[in-house]
Amino acid sequence: MFYYAIKNLHITCVVLSAAGFLLRGVWMITGNPLLQHRLTRIVPHLVDTTLLLSAITLTVMIQQYPFVAGWATAKILGLIVYILLGTVALKRGRTREVRIGAFVAALLVYLWIVSVALTKHAAGYLA
Ligand code: HEM
Repeated sequence: MFYYAIKNLHITCVVLSAAGFLLRGVWMITGNPLLQHRLTRIVPHLVDTTLLLSAITLTVMIQQYPFVAGWATAKILGLIVYILLGTVALKRGRTREVRIGAFVAALLVYLWIVSVALTKHAAGYLA
């Protein structure tokens, strides 16, 4: 029961994180000043920290650790790439083109992580 509660929390954070990233991406493209709002900076950290903590709890409970189980390794690496692309898209990208390119790439990586989660295969939809 506890496992399913944590898994539901994990999946809820997956949806919230993607929805928040999509919204911030749209605000970046349209130049909406809400992108700089205090809440816009704080809430994603809360969601992503909960996402990661729930992921760690699940891996410990089923003992499928990153760098041991291929799919868990793929998810961790994917998460790192997604975070890096996300910072380029929303903050560090010098031009609008670079930011939009990084935004689209981050979304594709995110979908790939979801496909790894659903298939438990390290290559996900690339298999
Ligand atoms: C952006 C990052 C992530 C996304 C989008 C994501 C997505 C998902 C999804 C959709 C599920 C449900 C799969 C199902 O219904 O069978 C899931 C489950 C799970 N995720 Fe994640 N996840 C992410 C990060 C991580 C990380 C970093 C880990 C740790 C390696 C992790 C470990 C797990 C585990 C152990 C489960 C439960 C698997 C099961 O019960 O069969 N997740 N994840």
